[in-house]
Amino acid sequence: MSHETFPTNRPAVVTCGLPYATGDLHIGHLRGYVGADVFTRALRTLGQQTAYVCGTDMHGTPVAVQALQQGVEPEELALGRHEQYEETFPRFNIEFDNYGHTHDETNTELTKEIVQTLEDEGYIYEDEVLVAWDPEEEQPLPDRFVRGTCPYCGAEARGDECDEGCQRHLEPGEIEDPYSAFTGNPAEYRERTHKFFRLSDLQSYLQSFIDRLEGTSNARNQPREWIEGELLDWCITRDMEWGIDYPDTDPDANSEEDLVLYVWVDAPIEYIASTKQYTERVGSDVYDWKDPWKQDGEIIHIIGRDIIQHHTVFWPAMLHVAEYNEPRAIVAHGFMSLDGDAFSTSRNRAIWAHEYLDEGFDPDLLRYYLTTVGGIQDDIDFAWERFQQRVNGELVGNVGNFVYRSLLFAYRNYEGTPDVSVSDEVREQIEDAIETFRTSINEYSIRNATQAAVDVASFGNEYIQRNEPWKLTDEDPERAAQVIRDCVQLVKAIAVLIEPTAPATAARLYSQLNEDGSVHNTTLDDALEAPAARFDEPTELFEKIEDDRIEALNERLDERIEHEEMTETPTDDGSETDDDVDLEPLSEERIGFEEFQALDLRVGRIQSAEPIEGADKLVKLAVDIGLETRQVVAGLRQLHDVDDLPGTRVVLVANLEKAELFGVESNGMVLAAGEEADLLTTHGDAPLGTKIT
Ligand code: MSP
Ligand code: ZN
Repeated sequence: MSHETFPTNRPAVVTCGLPYATGDLHIGHLRGYVGADVFTRALRTLGQQTAYVCGTDMHGTPVAVQALQQGVEPEELALGRHEQYEETFPRFNIEFDNYGHTHDETNTELTKEIVQTLEDEGYIYEDEVLVAWDPEEEQPLPDRFVRGTCPYCGAEARGDECDEGCQRHLEPGEIEDPYSAFTGNPAEYRERTHKFFRLSDLQSYLQSFIDRLEGTSNARNQPREWIEGELLDWCITRDMEWGIDYPDTDPDANSEEDLVLYVWVDAPIEYIASTKQYTERVGSDVYDWKDPWKQDGEIIHIIGRDIIQHHTVFWPAMLHVAEYNEPRAIVAHGFMSLDGDAFSTSRNRAIWAHEYLDEGFDPDLLRYYLTTVGGIQDDIDFAWERFQQRVNGELVGNVGNFVYRSLLFAYRNYEGTPDVSVSDEVREQIEDAIETFRTSINEYSIRNATQAAVDVASFGNEYIQRNEPWKLTDEDPERAAQVIRDCVQLVKAIAVLIEPTAPATAARLYSQLNEDGSVHNTTLDDALEAPAARFDEPTELFEKIEDDRIEALNERLDERIEHEEMTETPTDDGSETDDDVDLEPLSEERIGFEEFQALDLRVGRIQSAEPIEGADKLVKLAVDIGLETRQVVAGLRQLHDVDDLPGTRVVLVANLEKAELFGVESNGMVLAAGEEADLLTTHGDAPLGTKIT
């Protein structure tokens, strides 16, 4: 089934992944919130009626774990964060039509109602399930309270998700060798009664849903493995106090005592609840939440790639049984990393939203960077230099430059827009840009839509350069007027097309053009409407970012990361594993290849090993390096059993000065890592004596 092209005559709703109330917002989060804001604004520019809603994800173990660590009530913690998020979004020009939270009444009521429907429709059953339990603390250990080994890929994982390995969602009881994420106590499994949702009955529905689904290809491809394989029923309750209580079907029965709904039940329902709150505020004649969710409308979810399964399997299954509409599109964006490593709240390893704002940068610059720095599905490594490059190269050098020189010329020579019609060449150029914008949004590419605006500026710069109006004012005044008239039209088109990505900038530009009306309410046709006849002297749109500013930012970042890595503390949200190792910072100093080659490293094999009397770590080795056999003293006994060493292939530094240790001569050194002296070895069978380069 193919969907009708945007704009449709049905209302749309755009949502983005609800932030967990666990930590400050960083620019990785903003990739989604900005992206969805850009997409919403762009839909409106196409003439599509759209609501943009979100809310804070208050429940679940991420919040409960942190509250426990901080010694506060989960509700207090979550509400504090909620207020903070609510206040932060507008500072990035992210304008939700409604921003609620999952613990409010609207969501609590709606969640209970939907779960009741799932019950009534016969999709819920009770079953015994193994729940991880801390026997010393007499505590159940749901989801992130427990860690262990992923049964699918063997990676270290948390109870609800293989976060560092195969990324699978894990059901209670699945994780192997469980232990408490808190006390470290080995956990045991105990039988408890829980509620299950019959996902397995919905396999063919989900398969057809995926075939209809629009958005990014990762959102269609990633779930196929689950949907086409054996689909397990889904445990939707947890032994916890923090959350939405399981609706009590039989008030006399005690079986549901202490059971709350799994956070992934009530969290996506907030998408509906938040839309509902919007309608309650503006009235159903302005926007009726039932249109997208119950009747005819378009639902578009924008999320990070880590939560695809929740949105393509659990969520549409619930919607289907509860008789709500299914999403039309799921757009799953890639992750943002720093220096090649994941952002980490607990390690303070991120670029924080407040940090960016404190630096005084215009939010539109980040919006532009996040939208265009890579394809939406790509993982992006953040670097201040790349941010600077894009801002200086494209916004300052291309867009800002064209707009300023055009408007300044127009103001000085004509006090505004010359009184002629726009040329065919320029009209066609703008029509092409409009078409690219429209197609890109229909393909869910905010990057290409933004590029359409930037390309208008590139064309403009080329056009003004080619026509040299500064020469024409005396030689051919009519032609000069035409060229500048065209340029002002191009500027107006840029304002309309760049509004979704850079709304505050577009508003400044619109007021420089002396347009009445708000640029936020324009549609594509406005790009071709005649500009105002008079306007004032323009000012520059953007400021160049100087190198020293970037250097200072980088220095601060390096220091912080170094400091954090050396003073690593246990995690604050239980979501990551940190080995208790103080890693040495990477060396600042680089060496040339020649310097490296001065080291004569060879493949060797230990022939014999014997302990050295009086030195409890040292062994005397005979190492065969092909050309000869070397006697070497090495501190290896922490980790290695002396008897196991013969036969081990090693890496030997052959040209190190000879030394004497405990009266034994050492003629070389074997390489080993860390205090435990983990021996380096080779994995192929390079002949003994091979030089290592
Ligand atoms: N609460 C859940 C989502 C529930 S949706 C019904 C959650 N919260 S989160 O705080 O961990 O993430 C919020 C959003 O930010 C998600 O869409 C997630 O994919 C995204 N990102 C979190 N870290 C990110 C990066 N480092 N980079 C890009 N996006 C990131 O998941
Ligand atoms: Zn795994």
